[in-house]
Amino acid sequence: MTRIIVFSSGKGGVGKTTLVSNLAAALADFGEEVVAIDANVTTPNLGLHLGIHLAPNTLHDVLKGNVKLRNAIYPHPLGFKVVPASLNVNDLKSVDVGRLPEVTLNLLGKADFVILDCAAGLGKEASSALMAADEVIIVTNPDLPSLTDALKTLKIAQEAKKKVLGIVVNRVKGRKHELSKEEIEEFLGVPVIAEIPEDKHVSEAIAAKQPLVHYKPDSPAAREIRKLAAWLAGRKVEEEGGVLRKLLRKVTSWLS
Ligand SMILES: Nc1ncnc2c1ncn2[C@@H]1O[C@H](COP(=O)(O)OP(=O)(O)OP(=O)(O)O)[C@@H](O)[C@H]1O
Ligand SMILES: [Mg+2]
Repeated sequence: MTRIIVFSSGKGGVGKTTLVSNLAAALADFGEEVVAIDANVTTPNLGLHLGIHLAPNTLHDVLKGNVKLRNAIYPHPLGFKVVPASLNVNDLKSVDVGRLPEVTLNLLGKADFVILDCAAGLGKEASSALMAADEVIIVTNPDLPSLTDALKTLKIAQEAKKKVLGIVVNRVKGRKHELSKEEIEEFLGVPVIAEIPEDKHVSEAIAAKQPLVHYKPDSPAAREIRKLAAWLAGRKVEEEGGVLRKLLRKVTSWLS
């Protein structure tokens, strides 16, 4: 069965693209077939995070009806697939984002997970990505502005009868003024399924155009993202810190 999951926020810059690129890699490590789609049509970043930003065919071409989806799916060296979006501003013309649900349906039965990186906000682009998915993960930071915007996204997802899997709180620094997991759960009425720490290696990995889970597999954020991937894949959370496992991960990251 193919699970189609969208990563939405309300506020921009909370970490959706970082999560999608890393979960694609982490789920692929677990042997899952994954297609990651850059459904952020106006300000796409997923290709940049993954080093697939010069692809000849993009989601824009598919949405315009010029290219079949199968010709805009690219294999990533880490074992998952990516549908990148175009970085060219001219490609925004005559793109019908409303076609996203119909396009995504083509992947049913062709992967275990289709994960969508969504645009921020509550506009047509974000709502089309939401409609294209069956399940929703809402990403927020532990502050009131992102939480308030997350609540709006949550309401829209619930009105659309989507299954909200939970909240990912990203960039947790453990500072006193931050909202706690309990406060976030109380405010949104939905469980927090992961708390990803602030980690300086995230921006280093983005600069290297590699998912953090491979770039720095033992970094604090990579560990938490892997736990989230394990939860999504219905696996027992792996034992972190085993010497052999650490060595294996190192060798994998050297080879990649
Ligand atoms: N856990 C983290 N620790 C440190 N920095 C992070 C973390 N997660 C994300 N960032 C930083 O936050 C920035 C925004 O992340 P990202 O692009 O993933 O957010 P986004 O929600 O996709 O943004 P947009 O709404 O613009 O698409 C990135 O530059 C990244 O370096
Ligand atoms: Mg993004």
